[in-house]
Amino acid sequence: MTNTFLWNGKPIEFNSGETVANALHRSGHFIFGISPNGQNRSVFCGIGQCQNCLVEDEQRGEVEACLILCKRDMRLFSSDMVVKSREAQDD
Ligand code: FES
Repeated sequence: MTNTFLWNGKPIEFNSGETVANALHRSGHFIFGISPNGQNRSVFCGIGQCQNCLVEDEQRGEVEACLILCKRDMRLFSSDMVVKSREAQDD
């Protein structure tokens, strides 16, 4: 059985023990969103120090993709998707 989580509503396959950042990279996703100052979010330090890889977990809020291990059926969003969703709610 294939393990997947949802990234902006699309399934991403992962291997047991793999971080979200690794799984996203393997599936061709290298930009994880846009920071408040307009910079692309992606892996920089890879050890949980820079916060450049933040993604939105539906259950926990912002999490570091380089540290969080993939779990089946987790629902993650890029920061730009969260901004778009909040803007749509404000309309
Ligand atoms: S890449 Fe720096 S905290 Fe994840």
